[in-house]
Amino acid sequence: MKALTYEGPEQISYSDRPDPALPGRDGAIVQVTATGICGSDLHIYGGHGFVSTTGYCVGHEAVGEIVEVGPQTPGFAVGDRVLVPASVGCDSCSQCRAGIVAACARHPLPVDACYGLGGSLPGCQAQLLAVPHATGNLAKLPDEVSDAAAVVLTDNAPTAWYGARRARIAPGDTVVVIGLGPVGLMAVQSAFAMGAARVLGVDLLAERRKRAADLGAEPVESDDPKQAIRETLGGGADVAIEAVGADATIKLAISAVGHRGRVSVVGVSQNRAYPFHMMAAQVKELEFHIGLCSVQYELPALLKLTAGGRIRPEAVVTHQLPMSDGPAAYRMFADRSDGVGKVVLDPRR
Ligand SMILES: NC(=O)c1ccc[n+]([C@@H]2O[C@H](COP(=O)([O-])OP(=O)(O)OC[C@H]3O[C@@H](n4cnc5c(N)ncnc54)[C@H](O)[C@@H]3O)[C@@H](O)[C@H]2O)c1
Ligand SMILES: [Zn+2]
Ligand SMILES: [Zn+2]
Repeated sequence: MKALTYEGPEQISYSDRPDPALPGRDGAIVQVTATGICGSDLHIYGGHGFVSTTGYCVGHEAVGEIVEVGPQTPGFAVGDRVLVPASVGCDSCSQCRAGIVAACARHPLPVDACYGLGGSLPGCQAQLLAVPHATGNLAKLPDEVSDAAAVVLTDNAPTAWYGARRARIAPGDTVVVIGLGPVGLMAVQSAFAMGAARVLGVDLLAERRKRAADLGAEPVESDDPKQAIRETLGGGADVAIEAVGADATIKLAISAVGHRGRVSVVGVSQNRAYPFHMMAAQVKELEFHIGLCSVQYELPALLKLTAGGRIRPEAVVTHQLPMSDGPAAYRMFADRSDGVGKVVLDPRR
């Protein structure tokens, strides 16, 4: 089969790989019809991956059709159109049974709990994908959800919804979203779906602020976003969602909220010692949330919200390309060129 592999910093190649074998009696093989490039893949692309090896198949966002199943996959059969959640659990511990696969008792390392990070699970940017413990790690797709929307539902939309949910966005709240990539834009949509009165959007790129404005957000057009947010809202926001993962934007999120404000960080940070102003947080009675999304937990609500038209995950997709263009697509996504937002690749082409 064909697949995209990581060969070193800024080197993704369109390679030949052996077809995957069925991963156990409760596993499945999915023929991938659409796969996404995620902001998290940029950590790998930039040479800051989770493992030091090369040659592994990348990607953790896939939609496709089941072409093979083991005898112990209740609820799933060959021919089913499925979404593959980016987060992977064992489907047998109590946390996984509740959908909270990020706390799976059998996957202590994050690299083994997601496809394409160089751990035990080969990536989704491939023609065929081995899905372990399929019943817990697949979701059937309703016909009204397109492949493009479904790719966003494998990771970006659930991450944004999870961040918004943990910040307990309530009707009438003011919300600041920092970072307006696909995750941030889904956070804008999530905030409105939860009843936010106003959503402000912060990003370095004007075209991404424009995209947030198209979704109803108020773009923050200033070199001093902290000041601009306070002026616009007449004080701090109720909630800030951070979807970048940089020290500066986490700091901005903390300063953007007012007294008893709720900050929710979903941007991935590999910083081992973030400088946290404890006194300021204490005076403000700050609530600070950070975590990794369990896609399975968020998905039931999101599939219904998508099918009902309340959120539009496909709105963040800007490019649909053949997977053979994958190396160039990575360059474009990393360079932010050609007005790129979410890139969806078709492995059949
Ligand atoms: N917690 C989770 O479970 C989870 C899941 C998926 C993705 N993520 C993370 O979410 C983050 C966003 O993902 P994405 O796909 O939207 O990525 P992306 O790279 O497309 O978007 C990041 C955005 O942040 C903006 N940005 C960068 N520095 C900034 C700054 N100083 N001020 C304002 N804006 C700035 C960029 O211009 C870009 O638009 C990534 O860190 C990714 O790893 C987390
Ligand atoms: Zn991702
Ligand atoms: Zn488990």
